[in-house]
Amino acid sequence: MEQSVYDGKVKSIGISNYYTKEAIDKVLSYATIIPTIIQNENHIYYQNTELQKYVNQYGIIIESWYPFGGRGHTSENFNNEVIKEIAEKHNKTSARIILRWQLQAGYIVIPGSSNEDHILENYSIFDFELDNENMEKIANINKNQRYENW
Ligand SMILES: NC(=O)c1ccc[n+]([C@@H]2O[C@H](COP(=O)([O-])OP(=O)(O)OC[C@H]3O[C@@H](n4cnc5c(N)ncnc54)[C@H](OP(=O)(O)O)[C@@H]3O)[C@@H](O)[C@H]2O)c1
Repeated sequence: MEQSVYDGKVKSIGISNYYTKEAIDKVLSYATIIPTIIQNENHIYYQNTELQKYVNQYGIIIESWYPFGGRGHTSENFNNEVIKEIAEKHNKTSARIILRWQLQAGYIVIPGSSNEDHILENYSIFDFELDNENMEKIANINKNQRYENW
């Protein structure tokens, strides 16, 4: 991957599924180009909070996969009581609240969808903000529960 950067074929490097400081340190011990992005499972029930603080010092950003919990788990995420309460208060859907939280928390988030209405809905998150209290409430949903194990 580094050779592709040196050859001018790609601008930057993204890696995926690195969840511990030790795994990051191992990569950084031999990398000559620091990755720009780490794409990890990251949703309300599994938040990369500590890892994010660690990698941000190297200028690395975390990108979320399964931002809604992934196919088969979206309803568990959308119907979380805290998310639903915040959604009602803002008159927004749960999907928008989750995406807005992801953005404000400093993650890059690209949800999967093959439904045009959903895609439009998912783009409409720039006309409101979550305050610190609501950001904190969502942070507290975390229970370090992953859906996958790779
Ligand atoms: N690096 C890795 O190991 C890894 C692993 C898994 C996934 N990923 C990547 O992460 C990205 C996201 O993963 P994902 O698509 O599996 O999970 P996701 O984004 O958490 O969830 C996608 C599901 O959410 C539904 N959805 C999207 N917007 C919605 C909305 N506004 N309202 C209601 N439902 C909505 C979609 O259904 P509709 O189609 O009906 O909208 C789909 O069933 C993908 O690009 C995937 O390739 C990477």
